[in-house]
Amino acid sequence: MPLTEPVIHGEEVDAVASVVRGRWLTVSEQTAAFERECAEILGVPEAVLVTSGTAALHLAFLALGIGPGDEVIIPSLSFVAAASVVDLLGARPVFAEITSLRYPLVDLSDVRRRITPRTKAVVVMHYGGHPADVDGFRQLCAEAGLWLVEDAAHALFVESSGGYLGTFSDIGCFSFHASKNLTTGEGGLVVARPGALAQKVRQLRSHGMSPVADAGEPGYDVRYPGLNYRPTEMQAAMGRAQLARRHEDRRRRRAVVEKYLKGMDGCRLLIPFAEGWARGGLHLFVVVLDEQVDRGSFRRWLSARGVQTSVHYPPSHSFSYYRSRYRYREGDLPITESFGQRAVTLPLYAEITDGQVEQVIDAVRTALESNQCMREAGKS
Ligand SMILES: Cc1ncc(COP(=O)(O)O)c(C=O)c1O
Repeated sequence: MPLTEPVIHGEEVDAVASVVRGRWLTVSEQTAAFERECAEILGVPEAVLVTSGTAALHLAFLALGIGPGDEVIIPSLSFVAAASVVDLLGARPVFAEITSLRYPLVDLSDVRRRITPRTKAVVVMHYGGHPADVDGFRQLCAEAGLWLVEDAAHALFVESSGGYLGTFSDIGCFSFHASKNLTTGEGGLVVARPGALAQKVRQLRSHGMSPVADAGEPGYDVRYPGLNYRPTEMQAAMGRAQLARRHEDRRRRRAVVEKYLKGMDGCRLLIPFAEGWARGGLHLFVVVLDEQVDRGSFRRWLSARGVQTSVHYPPSHSFSYYRSRYRYREGDLPITESFGQRAVTLPLYAEITDGQVEQVIDAVRTALESNQCMREAGKS
């Protein structure tokens, strides 16, 4: 069974077909309506739909004016998109450590230690939709005069104390990639709280153009160079159809996670956030294997039993580009590295069947009981 699978019903097919038949394919009514609906749920004045989560992060850093000579602190345990964008803007991504294997969220005190006079922004990523310490980070950034960006790609419509994740910072970025809980195929959303910043993101999405009325004649001016990250109406229409089913999908995901927790109780593995699972994004189900377990053998065992797995994430600082460009070395972020070596993501999606869930549990239990998945004594 796959690691993840989008839930696509007749409503999505009809919504997309209706846009295609109508022949107005780019930013228009569907985009405006989807943006409005997302903003209403999130409780923010405005949301900007873009072509991907990476585009959302790119616009966020552009709008904040991140550029050459700047540093941006980013958790290494994340998808590499934020780091890539920062690097492409000529700034330096400075990788930060996570708190622990049990709470693989960016560590506030580690971030504090990495602040230099060149630091301009801090990125928090809500791993699996579990809230990073937003209050702590808000306070730190306010004291140090830094921008706070939330990479909320895993955390769409996740409530935390006092609001929704992605809305606690200067700019929140979401992804609607096909693997996410709500998908538009590819897609992303930016939520920027201060009005001027939100407006800048919107203008940067479309070549930096801003409308002007000149002698009564409407036209546009370009105040800064921008991009084309405009979504299609098909994406927006699909997103609206997905929105309507979000509570039902979340209930089902929660039921799956509960079955996993029960079924894997007593196994030689650590389940991050275990007691707080139901409050998170229910986006990924990740287990951290015991040090004695050989992860490659474990994943092959599951694969042979029809269970696809993945790793979220290989630490960003361990990729060859970042190692050679910024001289990162093994041991620089030991908790992140240990997590990156021992974590395995198991299938989780709303339409996984009870039988498939049992199949995963059975494969995990038998793998951990089998000598074939253990490291040879003395080998690390
Ligand atoms: C944590 C995180 N950040 C950023 C992204 C980038 O989003 P997208 O794939 O929509 O560009 C992803 C998506 O995979 C992600 O998981």
